[in-house]
Order: sequence, then C-alpha cells, then structure tokens
Amino acid sequence: MVDQNQILGLLKTVMDPELDMDVVTAGMIRSLRVDGSSVYVTLALTSDKCPMGEKIKDDVDETLKSMEGVKSVNIELSVMTEEERNALLEQLKANRSKEAQPAPPEKLPKREIKQIIAILSGKGGVGKSSVTSMLAVELSRRGFKVGVLDADITGPSIPKMFGVIEAPFVLEGKIIPAASKGGIKIMSMNLLLGGEEDAPVIWRGPLISSAIRQFFTDVDWAELDYLLVDLPPGTSDAQLTVLQLIPVDGIVVVSSPQELASVIVGKAVTMSKRLTVPILGVIENMSYAKCPHCGEQINIFGESRGRLLADGINTKYLGSLPLDPALSKACDQGKIEDYTSDAFKAVASKLLD
Ligand SMILES: Nc1ncnc2c1ncn2[C@@H]1O[C@H](COP(=O)(O)OP(=O)(O)O)[C@@H](O)[C@H]1O
Ligand SMILES: [Mg+2]
Repeated sequence: MVDQNQILGLLKTVMDPELDMDVVTAGMIRSLRVDGSSVYVTLALTSDKCPMGEKIKDDVDETLKSMEGVKSVNIELSVMTEEERNALLEQLKANRSKEAQPAPPEKLPKREIKQIIAILSGKGGVGKSSVTSMLAVELSRRGFKVGVLDADITGPSIPKMFGVIEAPFVLEGKIIPAASKGGIKIMSMNLLLGGEEDAPVIWRGPLISSAIRQFFTDVDWAELDYLLVDLPPGTSDAQLTVLQLIPVDGIVVVSSPQELASVIVGKAVTMSKRLTVPILGVIENMSYAKCPHCGEQINIFGESRGRLLADGINTKYLGSLPLDPALSKACDQGKIEDYTSDAFKAVASKLLD
C-alpha cells in the first residue's frame, strides 16, 4: 500500500513555474485517494485558461508513476474555487513579505569584551553622550576596564568630554584607541578629524556603518569588562545597523522630560523586538533642577515621565538625573572624569544590579 504522506512529500517537488511554488503549498491538490496501486488526484488549476495546466498535469503524472508501488495514476483536472484562489493569494503575499525582509547582517564576534552596552535616545541633546561618559567614568572608578565606542559618526562628542585629542595610531594592522587620563579607551570619528568637532561629516548610511564596523573590528580594544556604545540619536535605520552589527548585550535608554514618552516607547519596543536585544533600563536626564539657595527640587519641564516610560516598555527605571551646571561645565572643559554625582552613582548601581 502506498503511503499518502509519502505521495504528498513527493508532489512537493512538482512546481508551478508561473507561481514559483510547489503544487501542494499552492493548494492545487484538492483531493488525493489511494486504492491499492492506483492513485486518484484532483488537480485544481488557478484558472481554466492556465497555460501551464498540461505541463503541471504531466509533471504530477510522471512524478507519481516514478513511485514504487504505483501502477496507475488518474488525474482529474479542475479549477480553483474563489476560496481556494484567495487562500493561494494569501500564501503568495506571505512569501513575498518574507523575501522582502533582508536577512540581518551577521553579528561581529565579541572578542575579549565581556559586556557591550549601547546607549540610545529618542532624539539628540537629551544627554546621551554625557550619560555614556559618566557611566564609563563610574564603571572605571569601580575598577572595571572600560572602552567607549563613539558610534555617533556625524556628531561625535565623547573625546571632547574626556579632553582627549590625540589621534589613534596603527600598530601591526590594528588601530590603537586613544585613552583618557583615567585609562578609558576611546574611539571616535572626532579623533580622526584631528579634534575638529565642528568639521561636518557628511556621509551616507553605508559609509557610516562601515566606519562603525571598523571602530569595532579593527580597533585593538584588548580585554574589556565593558564597552559602551554611544549611538547616533534617534531610533531609525542608523541605530538599527549598529545594533545589528555589534553584538550588543543590552540597551540603556536616555530620555528627558520634554520628550514625548509615547513616541520613544513605541520606537524602543519595536527596536528591541526586531533585534532581540533587551532594554536594560531607562534613565531620565535633566529631570529637575535644585535651587542653589534652598535646595528645593524644581521640575522645570513638568512632572518626570521616566518611570512611566520604563513601565511602558517593561523595563527598569534606573532613576532621574538633575540639570547640573557643574556637569555641563565638566563636559565643556573636557573634565568629565573629575565630575561626581550622587544621583548618577545611584543610577549606575541600579544598572549593575
Ligand atoms: N543633566 C545635565 N545637566 C546639565 N547639562 C547637561 C546635562 N545633561 C547634558 N547636559 C549638557 O547638554 C548638552 C547635550 O548633551 P549631550 O550629552 O551631548 O547630548 P546628546 O548626546 O544626547 O546629544 C551638553 O553640552 C551637555 O554638557
Ligand atoms: Mg551625543
């Protein structure tokens, strides 16, 4: 007795050349009956004018006859019903959208780096680079080996915050990153532009992503406990490319109270889903100011929304940071390593938890 499933398996090798789909998947095998060594098939074509009808019928006939135990093949030709045709259309649509999604590029190997954390924000100017720098400093103070990859190619600001200007040099084919006073390794477009922070980098996407790839692969980061990646602002393709390429372990979202929480929430969720990279937490920067006279907390931009945002994306709220003139001064003077903040220490502890 010939097995039905075996027959269906074999029929999957018969293609409708027009649809570029096999006859089983296309739903053309409306019925299949085995009686001893005889096989009865009803083949439903897409239309009665199907130009490939005869060819498909011959292919099915030939394929079935090649099977062991099959002596006669009886094929009845029919035409798909409206319903069958709709089901086929759905199949074709599903296939097409699968093809349209390009496979993500291979992630680069992680090498000797234990944890890679990317810092993301919905827009520029919310303090993403300041937070990246402060986190690097705090981790380094706690005894970890830290590197910062400034992936904000068109607006690199990390070296300036650390007061680092010397250009990286090449040794035995590897780029040796610059180092801050405290020994934090830094790679940034800014260093290659000779510290000209305002020199415009007018590059297109592919060039930017190849620069970032080089910053990761060709730089001798050596052994690191943490590599922090300062992403370009926003949550569009530029950030996706970085996150698809570099084997990031987690994302920290920096927001500010002026931002529309709902917008970043949506984007961050989509992004983390597409990338299957967890969001480690949300930090709200410029949350409030302290009155220099009485110490009262003033919510300049209204109520803090950081916790709401974190809840919205099911992640930890790492805390809020005040607007602090000492921070902006330290950033401007390249002395971020001399800056300390209790609020930030608490945020870092929560993140490391
Ligand atoms: N909490 C803060 N208090 C005071 N100034 C801040 C604070 N956070 C950021 N800044 C300043 O705001 C400016 C923009 O910050 P930056 O970290 O470069 O933002 P982003 O990287 O998101 O564009 C910098 O000059 C920085 O010194
Ligand atoms: Mg920045």
